[in-house]
Amino acid sequence: MKILIVGSGGREHAIAASAAKSPRVSKIYCAPGNAGIGQLAECVPIGAMEFDKLAAFAKEQAVDFTIIGMDDPLVGGIVDVFEAQGLKVFGPRKNAAVLEGSKAFSKDLMKKYKIPTAAYETFDDPKDALSYLETAKMPIVLKADGLALGKGVLICQTLEEAKEGVKSIMEDKKFGAAGNRMVVEQFMTGREVSVLSFVDGKTIRIMSSAQDHKRAKDGDQGLNTGGMGTFSPSPFYTQEVDEFCKKYIYQATVDAMAAEGRPYVGVIFFGLMLTEEGPRVLEYNARFGDPEAQVVLPRMKNDMLEVMEACVEGRLDEIELEFEDNAAVCVVLASDGYPVAYEKGYPIEGLEAFDGQTDYFCFHAGTALKDGKIVTNGGRVLGVTATGTDLKEARHKAYEAVNWVKFENKYMRHDIGKAIDDAGAL
Ligand code: GLY
Repeated sequence: MKILIVGSGGREHAIAASAAKSPRVSKIYCAPGNAGIGQLAECVPIGAMEFDKLAAFAKEQAVDFTIIGMDDPLVGGIVDVFEAQGLKVFGPRKNAAVLEGSKAFSKDLMKKYKIPTAAYETFDDPKDALSYLETAKMPIVLKADGLALGKGVLICQTLEEAKEGVKSIMEDKKFGAAGNRMVVEQFMTGREVSVLSFVDGKTIRIMSSAQDHKRAKDGDQGLNTGGMGTFSPSPFYTQEVDEFCKKYIYQATVDAMAAEGRPYVGVIFFGLMLTEEGPRVLEYNARFGDPEAQVVLPRMKNDMLEVMEACVEGRLDEIELEFEDNAAVCVVLASDGYPVAYEKGYPIEGLEAFDGQTDYFCFHAGTALKDGKIVTNGGRVLGVTATGTDLKEARHKAYEAVNWVKFENKYMRHDIGKAIDDAGAL
């Protein structure tokens, strides 16, 4: 079986590594891929938004199955383009990927189908947003409606900050066209949990939970990033939380999408907040999380491709997911200065230490091959994942393995998974 993966980050490397474990896979292509993915797959220099070129490539190479890793092509309708040409592809169609592509859509959906989430208002005109904010309770959350590289959410403590936020999102267009519309949402407090799931349009299967660390600096300080590290499972995702979410959130979302004529096939990522009143949906994503995939997929016992095929063929009810009874921690190694300005092009040493390891993984994100050497090529460079019998061991091993890799301006957080210690869950 020949497969094509679309994307170029650590998530796509984790997807490629899982695919490579499937005995049915004979060849993996990745477009555009990166230097690490290139060790498992043939990287193809076609951009993730070049849908026609990608579909033509899939046809020429007789690719049997394509997996779309990234949000932009999904929201842009790549699945519709592939399906129109008779190609088998894993991911939601454009009319379903809107679950991530428009915050206003997802909030309206949750309201209509009574899926627990924070109260909100949607605005197309900054003047209306500003007059609403005059009487709103602070802190408050402003969200650009569209995709903004995970950065389009502002938490404002004061009315002045909120006014600045409206200006930057809707007038200065800090996040581009994503800010043509804005959602203003009630601020919630609690622990965040990421729950990934496979969906076939009707049936949903939940993967093991995870938690991301989005801020750039230790102690959850600094700017929002794409994610600086993750752990799985989350000890805060208790059986009680699971039961609540199964009753009010997971199947309800799949049913709501089907009832709207937008049957959802692919991965739904539920960004949850565990509030005192119970779990609430913070956001939906239409794909695996990055770096959530780097801790969840290495723990999955199933053949990932079989699960994905079952989704596309509408027979996910035949499958039960199984996860190792262990834990994983991923620490992202970034270029110092990320997410703002950083240098790249530095050689990376020590990667061979991961060769042949079974419980240490080095997932490449921003890397490239230059003159036969692997060099840094982005803000998030690598994701070092370790598995262990529990989170404490996995964390210890991950922080041991980050020292195996060396490059100029290497930056990481030192407290990935530390919340677990603080909560006394270890
Ligand atoms: N780690 C958060 C995301 O993938 O959006």
